[in-house]
Amino acid sequence: MCVTVEQFEQAKGKLSTLKNDPGNEVKLKIYALFKQATQGPCNTPKPGMLDFVNKVKWDAWKSLGSIPQDEARQQYCDLVGSLVAAEGGSSAQVAAEAAGSSTTYQTLLVTTEDDITTIKLNRPAKKNAITTEMYNEIIAALEQAAKDDSVLTVFTGAGDFYCSGNDLTNFTKIPEGGVEAMAKQGGELLRKYVKAYIDFPKPLIAVVNGPAVGVSVTVLGLFDLVYATERATFHTPFSQLGQSAEGCSSYTFPKMMGNAKASEMLLFNKKLTAVQACELGLVTEVFPDSSFQSEVWTRLKAYAKLPPNSLALSKQLIRSMEKERLHAVNDAEVERLVERWMSDECFNAVMSFFQAKAKL
Ligand code: COA
Repeated sequence: MCVTVEQFEQAKGKLSTLKNDPGNEVKLKIYALFKQATQGPCNTPKPGMLDFVNKVKWDAWKSLGSIPQDEARQQYCDLVGSLVAAEGGSSAQVAAEAAGSSTTYQTLLVTTEDDITTIKLNRPAKKNAITTEMYNEIIAALEQAAKDDSVLTVFTGAGDFYCSGNDLTNFTKIPEGGVEAMAKQGGELLRKYVKAYIDFPKPLIAVVNGPAVGVSVTVLGLFDLVYATERATFHTPFSQLGQSAEGCSSYTFPKMMGNAKASEMLLFNKKLTAVQACELGLVTEVFPDSSFQSEVWTRLKAYAKLPPNSLALSKQLIRSMEKERLHAVNDAEVERLVERWMSDECFNAVMSFFQAKAKL
């Protein structure tokens, strides 16, 4: 057993370059080996019955018993190595390294190529639902992209979905302070998340590769261009979930599509096709699914050759008048949502989602 700390760090980096989701069982194993390698045998209290996601993770870690940390490091490296090898290498990582990026992500693929930094949500098996970890990683990736040498930043999803919105299991991870603490922590994270979009200094482009739900739709009003495949749909089922609008959509949607159409989406859960979303100004342009990637990327690569300072300054001019207002809207939306997350309406709706899944 002679895996060095450096090799372990490299394996951690390689993990974020995987293109395919390895599935829950493997991910749990990776999680358990990582905990064992870095913290030793599991000695944290067993999570409660309702906290089922953390309980499954805790069980996986506990099942490793007392295997030594160096052995866990070795097994971790072997497992990650076999996953990378099965995919035939790690081009994404090579691209990231070429751009001088050393940050690694567990839930995203972040690459820089042709002066474009791409942030790709990478949980295709869960339709790219955004977990707490993922919110934090997206904030970090946006901060990194804001500072790097790229001209454009692109946001997209791995697999057939763009994003299914907030991961509803976030509501089942109840911290020590109970539901109120969960709601407050969630609120602070959401405020920070939306703030990262409001303050983003360079052109931000969404490449909507499939259906989009919830917060992945609402923040689109903060993007500079939104390109969508004809297969994409746009759905914000807030009232269905006992929740309320976020991502500054209570301001940007009525502004771009008028109150009547915005209310249909934000109050009455109307799902838009890509063409409808384009007619209402939420989407810049819709492309046939068969040529979506090639047409969009050809265009983006050409845009990335434009003078970067001119692009960034023009974007900032367009947004600067609104910035203060957007921050105020974000604050107000978060305040309402924190209340909503503590409500019976929200609790019952989230439980119904999981009960419906359990019955399938
Ligand atoms: N939160 C948690 N898990 C989610 C999720 C979400 N937002 N979206 C999808 N998933 C999970 C599903 O539970 C399922 O997990 P499983 O394979 O362990 O059962 C997996 O992702 C695949 O989703 P599935 O529902 O089987 O795919 P589908 O194509 O039939 O439906 C959706 C996709 C997105 C329409 C459906 O999953 C859905 O309605 N999700 C909730 C979306 C939502 O309400 N988001 C919050 C908005 S505020």
